[in-house]
Amino acid sequence: MARKKIIAGNWKMNKTPSEAVALVEELKDLVKNDEVDVVYCVPAIDIVPVVEATKGTNVAVGAENMYFEESGAYTGEISAPMLVDAGVKYVIIGHSERRDYFKEDDVLLNKKVKKAFASGLTPILCCGESLEQREDGITMEWIKSQIIADLAGVSADDVKKLVIAYEPIWAIGTGKTATSDQAQEVCKGIRDLIADMYDAATAEAVRIQYGGSMNAGNAAELLAKPDIDGGLIGGASLKADFGKVVNYNK
Ligand code: PGA
Repeated sequence: MARKKIIAGNWKMNKTPSEAVALVEELKDLVKNDEVDVVYCVPAIDIVPVVEATKGTNVAVGAENMYFEESGAYTGEISAPMLVDAGVKYVIIGHSERRDYFKEDDVLLNKKVKKAFASGLTPILCCGESLEQREDGITMEWIKSQIIADLAGVSADDVKKLVIAYEPIWAIGTGKTATSDQAQEVCKGIRDLIADMYDAATAEAVRIQYGGSMNAGNAAELLAKPDIDGGLIGGASLKADFGKVVNYNK
């Protein structure tokens, strides 16, 4: 069965609640495409108004982060049950900005992935190499270590529902996109790894996105590759151009 493409916007720390609703309205007609799953991953404070504003549309809402505990004395954190109750379907786990600026490590991210699945959320698990790691020729080795650690103890049935985002750090927000061949090579490597860790059916089912300066100009070429099942889009998700990314096949 063909994997359905999934195009997710990662708004990062952009848009106040009222700006968020205005953006949803601006994009509403532009992001219609039944052949693609469309997701807006938005700042925590924007979740409630964006869920409301996207009701009755083809857009699902995601969070950009969550904590793995159910509830309790974790000042400033947001739990999976809170996200579910608010109408969230997806959650980004382990974005390179969280790994880097907020020191999130694979042990923590593994707990978050498990909690997300246990709560009925679909994690968008991010991985990717730095420029230095690419130049040292250890890209695949590094990504394997991230994925093996982040998925420790996660079942094949859950991995079939998982979304993995391959985001080379050197391509994020820099305007430097990986070439479609570079992106395909790593996404294929990730699928082969999932086949080794689980089985062929799980590897066939898992959806693997590319992220890093994806935009209206390069989306069609990247998404034509056999192992690239979607995109995680930062900068270009905040403007009308996002509609062109979603409709890359039209
Ligand atoms: P970018 O960000 O599209 O602005 O490069 C992608 C991401 O960080 O998810």
